[in-house]
Amino acid sequence: MAERRPIMAGNWKMHHTHLEAIQVVQKLSYPLDEQDYEACEVVVCPAFTALRSIQTVLEGDRIPIALGAQDVHWKEQGAFTGEVSPIMLAKLNAVLKHGMAPIVCVGETLDEREAGRTDAKVSGQVQAAFAGVRGEDPVRCVVAYEPIWAIGTGRNATPEDASATIAVIRQTLRELYKGAADEIRIQYGGSVKPGNIAELMVMPEIDGALVGGASLDPVDFSRVIKYRA
Ligand code: PGA
Repeated sequence: MAERRPIMAGNWKMHHTHLEAIQVVQKLSYPLDEQDYEACEVVVCPAFTALRSIQTVLEGDRIPIALGAQDVHWKEQGAFTGEVSPIMLAKLNAVLKHGMAPIVCVGETLDEREAGRTDAKVSGQVQAAFAGVRGEDPVRCVVAYEPIWAIGTGRNATPEDASATIAVIRQTLRELYKGAADEIRIQYGGSVKPGNIAELMVMPEIDGALVGGASLDPVDFSRVIKYRA
């Protein structure tokens, strides 16, 4: 099986002004060393208003944390109030000299899980999301399995359930991309905390975490990243 470097992404949602975001990134980076960054890719996704400030801090202090936007519109321009286009983000990325890599989120509702429809739901979402994605592009994508009932609820999927659903996602990717599918990283997201990350990461199918609430606190998020310690 391909060696996949785990990816730990902090999704701050509508939290942290740009000044708070700067402090959080600095505090998060203090306890992280070269080994941590080698062991896993670390990403923060601040609010749009903080992207530029965080970019400056990461570059200025040479902090090897990747920067992510929380969302992007599928059109390049148009009359879409409050939306941000890929061109606007790509300009940021051109400065960062990074190509953009999407985190594609999939997951079922509680009703769907209880009705035994989880596998069909996530594999349908993967097929729809990856329609037309060809060549080298699929392996640049990350998939996050995020059961909707586990997001921000304090109720996480068991490592066994998360792993079983991620195996279904990987099988769907294999049907699309054969062996290349084994290079795509699949994270788990939904109430990940310092106290449950280790048991999730023990599962070979789980390649990292998309962390909401616990990524807001730099101490908690650094403990998630250092889950091996
Ligand atoms: P949570 O959020 O960790 O607060 O449940 C997960 C997410 O950002 O999708």
